[in-house]
Formats: sequence, C-alpha cells, structure tokens
Amino acid sequence: MNYRHEFHAGNFADVFKHIVLTRILQHLGAKPAPFRVIETHAGSGFYDLLGPEAGKTAEWRGGIGKLMAASLVPEVQPLIAPYLQLMAPLIEGEPPRYGGSPWIAKTLLRRQDKMLFCELHPDAFANLRANFGNDARIKLFQTDGYARLKAFLPPAERRGLVLIDPPFEAADEFAKAAEAVEHAWRKWMTGIIMLWYPVKDAGTSAALAAHLLERGVKRVLRLELQTGRPAPQGPLARCGLILVNPPFRLDAEAEILLPWLSGVLGAGEAGFLIERVSGE
Ligand SMILES: C[S@@+](CC[C@H](N)C(=O)[O-])C[C@H]1O[C@@H](n2cnc3c(N)ncnc32)[C@H](O)[C@@H]1O
Repeated sequence: MNYRHEFHAGNFADVFKHIVLTRILQHLGAKPAPFRVIETHAGSGFYDLLGPEAGKTAEWRGGIGKLMAASLVPEVQPLIAPYLQLMAPLIEGEPPRYGGSPWIAKTLLRRQDKMLFCELHPDAFANLRANFGNDARIKLFQTDGYARLKAFLPPAERRGLVLIDPPFEAADEFAKAAEAVEHAWRKWMTGIIMLWYPVKDAGTSAALAAHLLERGVKRVLRLELQTGRPAPQGPLARCGLILVNPPFRLDAEAEILLPWLSGVLGAGEAGFLIERVSGE
C-alpha cells in the first residue's frame, strides 16, 4: 500500500469529486430527516498544500488553485459556490490547506447525522483520528473499507451516501470497486452510491458502467472530466464518477458544470462525459 493522497490533494480530480460530493450532501441536508455518510477510503482529511508531498507535485495548482482564480459565470455560481465557500478559509490560510472528503462531510453534517470512515494506512488513519476523533457523530475504523462496508448496510437512517474512493493501485481494483457498488446497491437500494475512478484508457471505464448495467443496477449516472489527453503511463488527465441513485437534477447540473470545469481546469484536449447508464 504505497498510495498517499497527500501528493494529489486538491488536484482536478479532487475538485471534480468534491464539488459533486458537496452537491449530494446539500441535497441530503435539505430535508430534516437524519442521514448517514459511509466512506470506505477516507484518507487523512486535511492536507498541507505546501508540505513535502503536495508541495513537490503541486498538482493542486492545476485544480483548486485554478478554480479559486476563475470567475464564476452566473449559471455555474450556485453549483460551485458552496464548495468554494467551504474551501476558501483553508486555502487562504497559512499554510494553505485542502480539506478532503471527511472534512467536507463533517462540515455539512448536522446534529442528527452520522458518519463512518474507513482508512487502512496507519499514517492517514492517525491524521484522521487527530482531526475527527472527538466528534460523537463520527466513527473511525482502521480497516479494509471494502470488507467493512458489508456490515454497515443498510444504515438505520435509510437515507445517505456510500462514498468509495480507492487508490487504484492494484490490478483488480476496478473489479473490486464494481463489486462493492453492486453489493452496496443490493443491500441498500435507496442509498446514494458514489464511486470515483481514474481513466487511463476509455475501455476500462466503459466496461465498469456496462458491468453495472448488466448486473441490473438501476439509476446509474456516469460522469467524466478530462483536462488533457489521457495516456496509460502519463499523469492523470481524466477521471470519472459512477453515481447510483443520484439526487434529482444532478445530471442536469452536470450539463452546466462539466463543460465549464473542463474549460477552466483543462488545456488542449479537455472534455467531459455525461452518460445516463441505466434508468428506473
Ligand atoms: C484517494 S484516497 C482517499 C481520498 C479521500 N476520499 C478524499 O476525497 O479526500 C484513498 C485512500 O484509501 C486508503 N486505502 C487504500 N486501501 C484501502 C482499503 N482497502 N481500505 C481502506 N482504505 C484504503 C489509502 O491509504 C488512501 O488514504
């Protein structure tokens, strides 16, 4: 297990994933009934953007750095502003920091909501515990998130989100992730499920969506964002999200968001994909 999210925090992939995450959490928070967020691969929660890892790759400058400098056009403003409002105090801090998915979720959680985070790496888990360990709404598990997920579903609240955000280091990660999505859906057919994945070649991600369709998973939306030409050995230039039971109108929001984001964060061969993989 070599992956450290510290090298990639705040890059274009994080920005894309976390904007959509913020939209989902806002949607869940719009009703007073409690919800639960379950995250299988939580990471550290906070990242020092000038630290030895993020400072070395500086990937964040092509992600949150570009976004902070962009002028929001009126139709995009309401979709992105909530995420930027969360991030701005951290980015403008000294040193600048980036908040990962646990921090975003914690910030948008209400008194009645709950969160479960799994993280396997000892250093990342220690950070997670230091940052989130004293909040009674949050439970932390230093464990394999795929294995633990089964025991968490369905949650008592019956509303909420499963976020699966693996490092994709292992050759079988796409298969494991697809299995986790299908399994989560079978155990909790009304829950929102969000899987992040990298795109190095178009075939693998198309196969992921086709697999879920074939297994009968309903209400699947696939979104992809590209900031340059994807290459198997090159730096990440395209990534995607599989969303099961996406909030109402998220697909319409993506039609506004993704062209704009690909223009602001991309160069050359930037682009996007919005695919309604399966309906009811
Ligand atoms: C992409 S990062 C997570 C980033 C985080 N979700 C965010 O958006 O801020 C993936 C994390 O998964 C952890 N990890 C790797 N294998 C795992 C497993 N089997 N179970 C739980 N965590 C794992 C890694 O240590 C890493 O911190």
